[in-house]
Amino acid sequence: MWFPDCLLAIETSCDETAAAVVRGREVLSNVVASQIDMHAKWGGVVPEAAARAHVEAVVPVIDEAFALAGRPAIRGVAVTNRPGLVGALSVGVTAAKALATAWGVPMVGVHHLEGHLLSPFAVDGPEPTVPALALVVSGGHTEMVAIDGLGEYRLLGETLDDAAGEAFDKGARLLGLGYPGGRAVQEAAKDGDCRRYKLPRALPKDRYHWSFSGLKTAMLRLVETEGTGLNVPDAAASLQAAVVDALAEKVAGVLDELGPRSFFLVGGVAANEALRSRLADECRRRGVEFWTPTIDLCTDNAAMIGIAGSFRLARGDRDSIDLDVTAGAPLPGLR
Ligand code: KG4
Ligand code: ZN
Repeated sequence: MWFPDCLLAIETSCDETAAAVVRGREVLSNVVASQIDMHAKWGGVVPEAAARAHVEAVVPVIDEAFALAGRPAIRGVAVTNRPGLVGALSVGVTAAKALATAWGVPMVGVHHLEGHLLSPFAVDGPEPTVPALALVVSGGHTEMVAIDGLGEYRLLGETLDDAAGEAFDKGARLLGLGYPGGRAVQEAAKDGDCRRYKLPRALPKDRYHWSFSGLKTAMLRLVETEGTGLNVPDAAASLQAAVVDALAEKVAGVLDELGPRSFFLVGGVAANEALRSRLADECRRRGVEFWTPTIDLCTDNAAMIGIAGSFRLARGDRDSIDLDVTAGAPLPGLR
């Protein structure tokens, strides 16, 4: 089920330049150069600046991943080619083509979300059981996916507007906590009372979908009405509770309905401690295996692209030198 040899994986879809070496689903090295400090100045990712920064970082990052893994013989290359910022993606894909051609090894383009979805397989010991229900929560995605088998996915629901990560990022900006906001909200929330401010739970009637735009508006109104009297830790705790409740209530309903063997919590927002413990609890109560990667594999990284690439190469998927990049693309194997 996994490619048996060492693979080099490259990820440059957004604001992290990342490279990793994996063997099967074992991670031998995982290097991430973040552009966060640069984009923080503008309060978000500037696509042109991101692409230029990838050009500067991609070779040193690949070399470091290669060195940390002990410079093994590389028998394949996996690279994120969709979805993402096209200029940013092109940098990683061009590097992957050059290396795969020079080494004479196969190359495969990986869907960024499949990387997140399979990130729980990067674990020592027995691998997660499927069928599984997965919640993908990141800066750009909030999706509930049924994993019927590896490479066989069904999209059950998604956000109708903002992603959960955006709710954190936009809320953080309103609270003056900086960019990216998720981690900053989590830290500020530690000293806060989550019952202090009432915020909406982003639960449209539909069982599978979310909406976070109302939460953003409510945060704006809160900041305006409280003015200098606003208690920032309490507001951060209230915001975090609103996002966690909205995600957990829907997941709990779908766990009851589908009764999967396992549940995967993946994507950058999966780094959130309150969300991790709440969903672990919901799973424990139902006897469902709970899987979430270590924090460094929740936010964008190349190890997860290597795991997905290892699966894709093992099943015979290959891409040629004309592999393209795409801003938006459905998950492969979506039914
Ligand atoms: O997966 P990711 O690194 O990039 C995308 O593919 O979007 O996710 C980034 C998102 C950002 O919105 C960031 O604020 C959020 O993940 N995030 C967190 C935490 N760490 C990162 N959100 C809540 N709590 C955290 N600890
Ligand atoms: Zn991501």
